[in-house]
Amino acid sequence: MATTSTSPTPRTTPRATASSNGHAWWRSAVIYQVYVRSFADGNGDGIGDLAGVRQRLPYLRELGIDAVWFTPWYPSPMADGGYDVADYRDIDPVFGTLADAEALIAEAAALDIRVIVDVVPNHCSDRHSWFEEALEAGPGSPERERFWFRAGRGERGDLPPNDWSSIFGGSAWTRVRDANGAPEEWYLHLFAPEQPDLNWDNEDVRREHEDVLRFWFDRGVAGVRIDSAALLFKDGALPDFDPDEAPSPHPFTDRDELHDVYRSWRGLADGYAGERILIGELWLQDAARFARFLRPDEMHTAFNLQFLACPWEPDQLRECIDSTLAVHAPVGAPATWVLSNHDVTRHVTRYGRAESSFDFAAKKRDIPPVDLELGTHRARAAALLTLALPGAAYIYQGEELGLPEVEDLPDEVLQDPMFFRSGGTDPGRDGCRVPLPWRAEEPTFGFSPEDATADPWLPQPASWREFSADYQAGRSGSMLELYREALRIRRADPALGDGALHWLDATNGVLAFARGEGFLCVVNLSAAAVELPRHDRVLLQSGPLTDDKLPPDTAVWLLHFS
Ligand code: GLC
Ligand code: CA
Repeated sequence: MATTSTSPTPRTTPRATASSNGHAWWRSAVIYQVYVRSFADGNGDGIGDLAGVRQRLPYLRELGIDAVWFTPWYPSPMADGGYDVADYRDIDPVFGTLADAEALIAEAAALDIRVIVDVVPNHCSDRHSWFEEALEAGPGSPERERFWFRAGRGERGDLPPNDWSSIFGGSAWTRVRDANGAPEEWYLHLFAPEQPDLNWDNEDVRREHEDVLRFWFDRGVAGVRIDSAALLFKDGALPDFDPDEAPSPHPFTDRDELHDVYRSWRGLADGYAGERILIGELWLQDAARFARFLRPDEMHTAFNLQFLACPWEPDQLRECIDSTLAVHAPVGAPATWVLSNHDVTRHVTRYGRAESSFDFAAKKRDIPPVDLELGTHRARAAALLTLALPGAAYIYQGEELGLPEVEDLPDEVLQDPMFFRSGGTDPGRDGCRVPLPWRAEEPTFGFSPEDATADPWLPQPASWREFSADYQAGRSGSMLELYREALRIRRADPALGDGALHWLDATNGVLAFARGEGFLCVVNLSAAAVELPRHDRVLLQSGPLTDDKLPPDTAVWLLHFS
């Protein structure tokens, strides 16, 4: 973390004009992801909450982000960190109340920060009233039609209705029992058994979710992040299939029926003032199919998970950037750039490995050695690369502090169903969800108040002291100051955010491009220091230059006037 950055020229342009009048603010936005349980604990029970977020809004304002996306904050048994929603129109008591959420949205707005909520349409909690009613009502009832209940196969119906696997491991089916305890129908869950899949062919399901969108738009949220957005529809015949053969159409991924739903959601969002947006979580291999969701009357944007998965390797990054831009151009949607989120290994750790791509399957196999100093160095360069690319960018909480993945959490504290459903072969996602360090000299590093009654829900490594926000604030060369400075420059310079990118000639292993008239970004992924292109001023650098050259794994932002 001990590198320097030059102090950039103060520029006077205020916040990009596009965002001040609400027009297309999302095309250039920097959106900060808050994983509520792990952000800040206001009441001292060891779990992050809305009071904690409200106290930290000034921090987010100072960081310079445009919007905050909150992972699910609804009442939930927390079988999957809140992605098992029991009531879409309220707040879990652990996090606060609906009034707290309303106050938070208003306070954020006063600081010019928009709020985005996570909607989870593919499944609900097994404690949602609909599922409880479905169990009660029994086979053949309209209540069961809202889900995927089926009789089992085999003479006694004791085999699952088909061979689908849960994304979290094991069968995607669980058998229920009737009131007398006798085994009865099975229900489908692409994720954990506590997350029954909703049947999107059912009118109630469609109506309910549109009503939920209105509920949150009416409360002033600026957009929704759509969880598992490609999975909603299933082939009603529920056929067996071989996942390695990638059948087309797939029985439950990226089915054509989805587009009609998102068109309808877009119409609903467009009925509100101030550009309310739809952001899709779409894990799709096929870029052209991905782009179909971003047609002008569908979603506004979607996460660029290809970029997130891409290794720290110049040709692959260049290829990923080019293909991303090529895929978005015909539909006129802005690209997004994502380095980390609450589901994947933090990128400081990924980039510190010989194999630096992200792959869920590989995570199960082993935990390879990591060089965190190298990873941090690259993460700094990656921040400047990402924030200079055309479109919107996401920051996952703690990324601005340079947090690594915590890979040595003891089994007994783990909570992620990915760990449990894999029989422990997958370490799960808790390692990127460890509560944030705010104050170096306080217990829990200031995550909880000093008089807290419980420990943080996951233990923080002792080594996190120097990652604390207060330790890094104002400290030249810290990750936090790099992010603050980069965001300040990005906000002030109309060349950044939405717009075109022009690649510059560069030596092998170097990514160099121009934005607008005079902004240049150069990232050195080669093994040797390289000359900088002609420039008038260094705006920001991810690490020190050596003899005016850009060392390996370092990035720089330059201004060139003529
Ligand atoms: C999404 C979320 C993930 C969750 C899953 C099921 O992929 O990002 O955290 O477990 O959906 O809702
Ligand atoms: Ca709390």
